[in-house]
Amino acid sequence: MIRFLLGKLLPLAGWIWISSPVWAQSPVTDTSFFATKLYPVLEAAHCRLCHATDGVASGTRIHFPDKGASRDQIQLFGLSLAAVVNRSTPSGSLLFVKPTNRIKHTGGLRIKPGSDEEKILSQWIQYLASASDESLAAERRRLSESAGASTQEHAVRRLTHSQYDNTVRDLLGDYSRPALHFPPEDYVDGFKNQAQYQGMTPLLVDAYSTAAEKLALNAFRAGDINHLIPCKPVSATDVKCRDLFVRSFGLRAFRRPLREVEFKRYAAAFSVQTGLSGKFLEGARTVVEAMLQSPNFLFHLEAGPDGQSVDYGVASRLAYLLQDTMPDKALLDAAAKGELRTATGREAATRRLLDDPRTHQALDEYFDEWLRFDRVLNSSKEGRRFPEFSLEMAASMVEETRRLLDHLVWDDRNFMELLTADYAYLSSDLATLYKLPAPAGQFELVHFPAGTPRAGVLGEASFLAANAGPTETSPTARGIFIREQLLCQHVPPPPPNVDTNLPEATEDKPLTRRQRMSAHVENPLCASCHRLMDPIGFGLESFDAIGRFREHETILIESPMGKSKDEKKINLDLDTRGEVAGIPNSTFSDSSQLGAILAQSTVCQECMVRQIFRYAFGRLETSADEETIHQLFATFRDSGFHFKDLLIGLVRSPEFLAGLEDNQKGVTRTPAPSVRSKNVSPNAAARR
Ligand code: HEC
Ligand code: HEC
Repeated sequence: MIRFLLGKLLPLAGWIWISSPVWAQSPVTDTSFFATKLYPVLEAAHCRLCHATDGVASGTRIHFPDKGASRDQIQLFGLSLAAVVNRSTPSGSLLFVKPTNRIKHTGGLRIKPGSDEEKILSQWIQYLASASDESLAAERRRLSESAGASTQEHAVRRLTHSQYDNTVRDLLGDYSRPALHFPPEDYVDGFKNQAQYQGMTPLLVDAYSTAAEKLALNAFRAGDINHLIPCKPVSATDVKCRDLFVRSFGLRAFRRPLREVEFKRYAAAFSVQTGLSGKFLEGARTVVEAMLQSPNFLFHLEAGPDGQSVDYGVASRLAYLLQDTMPDKALLDAAAKGELRTATGREAATRRLLDDPRTHQALDEYFDEWLRFDRVLNSSKEGRRFPEFSLEMAASMVEETRRLLDHLVWDDRNFMELLTADYAYLSSDLATLYKLPAPAGQFELVHFPAGTPRAGVLGEASFLAANAGPTETSPTARGIFIREQLLCQHVPPPPPNVDTNLPEATEDKPLTRRQRMSAHVENPLCASCHRLMDPIGFGLESFDAIGRFREHETILIESPMGKSKDEKKINLDLDTRGEVAGIPNSTFSDSSQLGAILAQSTVCQECMVRQIFRYAFGRLETSADEETIHQLFATFRDSGFHFKDLLIGLVRSPEFLAGLEDNQKGVTRTPAPSVRSKNVSPNAAARR
């Protein structure tokens, strides 16, 4: 109670605190104090968990530098804290009163009042409050110059499974989708393509070589039906035709012209094979099999012959980002002419590709991963409670959301309508589920009657059902989805050994899901995390575990004998007040209100940029990328949130060229291709 009152008074009565011993410390005289004294304290208090660019507190003014940041970057961060320091009343600074929980802090009590840690914190606050603006600015300039000198490392990426399948389709005309037999890819940091986690396991190496063998056999099983050989060989030893084939296939397989030494090696492998078999196509098959196992095929190493690595690298990046497959002929030609080096050239190429159906398919793959459609398709619901739910219905749910996304992108709508759309593309079973009028044809547009509590994707069953259990809703799961997918904030995983059993509802004590969860939202041990997730889900409690609207929560009390006909149904009133901690004035009680709040939130709008950035570059953004992200965000916002403009901004940005020159050097470390090379990873050793 006393703390509560002081907390209320504090901002007005800073002097009370100034007279306390904490504020009578010897002053700090230089910025290294932060890196050596306070930073370790903040790390030990785990502020980073939430106050990082991907943390739940990313919307605040505190952004921790990356782990492993240089000392200069750490000191710069120390200076940036001036934004949460109150110069006239240092003891009323948010930097002081939030982590000590003197005023309500979503992160809770992190630094104990009266502790040594608190003293260190207050010393730094005093330093920031007393230093002049000019001296802080000069110090900041000095540090950012030396910190900026550090360079970014770019991990080499390999083709994702879907890129592999699409590439062999376009390279060989093979539609068998061999990657279905590869070890499955995991979702890490939201996507399946994050470079850092694309390990090369022995299992995958084997799968690649088995696939290469099969694909090469099939390519020539019935002669050269896909026209891979650009000439008519006059004999098995037609050297001219051999060379034409090796160069033209090599250009497409490696997405750049072969180097002379590579050309010689593959031509030699070809000749050895024709010598043995007496057949031209046998030589061609050997080359295809060998190239499909080369790191130059399996990895994004598109560094061309001297001076052309940027050209071919860009062609590949454009193709794999926008089409999820290898560059087509027009892109390779544009690379050869050096047209893709300029932002204008890249934009022109992008505009051409945006009209291609393969680009639609590629974006579907992105949306599929971002919004985790796999979870919708794999969700299971208890048949007794949800007899209408089926695999086909789950597929309809995904299709509904996909149509909405396609409409927003390809009809140039404001992309934030994803959260506010008062219309949907419904199948007849979904219209029944939502109790809305059915459209004339499957997945046709239906406008919602006024007052419908649904809007956008958060009112769609794909979200509501996938983020719920088989029998009940899961406010936690719905909340975490919104944090991670729509706000780009990472909720730390639950600590080990947490008892996640909720109190049972009984006939004497019938409780709603929300009531059963409230205990741990209030328990301080659990609250620091659960307060960030559960209250979001609470506001969506009027939608059941398959996305139906409900007035009451019906709980089933099992009979002691376990016979379902003796089961009792009890209807309980719902409390659907929800809130998004960290977004001011964010109380809501259905998906249409929540959608409106999120669509207006800069954190959410900017998250649309962060997600495509992570997918496009195969990595999480770091603090060094914030400038790029802000610029992309400005482009996106100024276009009226048109997704196509975001894509164009992405390919125009200098980041699109990053690392291409480095790859050129890296390529000399690439192991020599050989017919059954198991050594497919150019830098597996370095990464382990
Ligand atoms: C579990 C998550 C979490 C942790 C850990 C956490 N915070 Fe916070 N913090 C938040 C959230 C969410 C907000 C925004 C809402 C609020 O003010 O409560 C916030 C707000 C703040 C603010 C106000 C910032 C502003 O721009 O107005 C300060 C200062 C702050 N925290 C300091 C700290 C410090 C220092 C630590 C570590 C000692 C810390 N926090 C640990 C979640 C956290
Ligand atoms: C460091 C963060 C953190 C803390 C602390 C934490 N949890 Fe969790 N908890 C999570 C996350 C994240 C999930 C959801 C992801 C998952 O299930 O793995 C979760 C899931 C749950 C679930 C399942 C909810 C559902 O609907 O699926 C329950 C129940 C739960 N936690 C209870 C607790 C209790 C009780 C405590 C305190 C004793 C606690 N948690 C402390 C992060 C936390």
